[in-house]
Amino acid sequence: MSPSEPLSADRPAPAAASPVSTFTEWDPLEEIIVGVVEDALIPPWETITPAVVHDRAQWPFFKAEGGRRWPAEMLRKAEADVEAFVHILEAEGVTVRRPERFAWDQPIAAPGWSLPSSCYALMPRDVLLVIGDQIIEAPMGWRSRHFEHHAYKSLCKEYFRGGARWISAPRPELSDASYKPDFVAMEKGEPQRTILTEHEPLFDAADAIKCGRDLFIAQSSCCNSFGIEWLRRHLAPDFRVHEVEVHDTHPMHIDATFSPLAPGKLLVHPERCAKVPDLFEKAGWDVLVCPEPDMPLTHPMYNCSRWISMNVVMLDEERVIVSRGEERLIAAFKKWGFTPIECPFYDFETIGGGFHCASVDIRRRGTLQSYL
Ligand code: ALA
Repeated sequence: MSPSEPLSADRPAPAAASPVSTFTEWDPLEEIIVGVVEDALIPPWETITPAVVHDRAQWPFFKAEGGRRWPAEMLRKAEADVEAFVHILEAEGVTVRRPERFAWDQPIAAPGWSLPSSCYALMPRDVLLVIGDQIIEAPMGWRSRHFEHHAYKSLCKEYFRGGARWISAPRPELSDASYKPDFVAMEKGEPQRTILTEHEPLFDAADAIKCGRDLFIAQSSCCNSFGIEWLRRHLAPDFRVHEVEVHDTHPMHIDATFSPLAPGKLLVHPERCAKVPDLFEKAGWDVLVCPEPDMPLTHPMYNCSRWISMNVVMLDEERVIVSRGEERLIAAFKKWGFTPIECPFYDFETIGGGFHCASVDIRRRGTLQSYL
């Protein structure tokens, strides 16, 4: 080595040499992890549940059934949806990886709390924040999901051995000090409030969304300001972390509220996105307001709202995987210059989330750029 060459032994490997490399939601998708329905349990009732489950009518169901298996017919239909999603991805040349099996029915505990079970590996987007060449295990605010990253350990080790960076955010204690006592979810029109205290850094990976050098994140029932600050310092100086102001009675995850889909195209929920950050307007982006979902109001939804229609996955900056039946959104996507690919997903949405929740991008062909 010549004396003028910088010492590089401790410099991170460039993203191009890593099997993990993703900077946006739209660079051409090469590899993705998709969740598994098999073994999924109904999440056990816990402190955070009333803050995240929109439909109060479902609360007795979680109190009574939490920890049991979802009814077999529901799982069969949800699985058919996920397999249709996987089929589309593979047919488009994307490598699809799956989490490993895990005994979710084992009791879990930490000092100060215990639960009879954990949940599932349905939604990798919540667990792993993949950005650039690194995988960050999220410090999730749910006690029942505290060990969910175990289902992804084999994949993380493989990616690490291949050259990716892999880190866990500080593991949270999730003691009672993390939750506001006697919290009551807000009603429409009330000022925004969440259940979390600032006792320790907390976020789910799906509370954040990528847009090149800029990462957008919103406080929610599982993401506090301390968590956002941890991420901001951890990702500096390569990435800039911006907090998005949301207005949502049961805030959880940014990807049915605010979603940069392609350069110059930001999809937003008509009400939840309280304010589009100024830098989008300055950079001349189009703000695309998501139309009212077409999912019938009678369709059963346990964990999330019908606005999960917004929770799409981009194959590249034109092709978007969208839930079959969402005619208004499909028509809007065409008008906005996208090519929608329809996939049946309502039965997965019943027990979990949308395409974005059900997956996590591992590699997209692209480089670190600023779009704002
Ligand atoms: N919290 C989002 C919704 O339920 C995912 O719409």
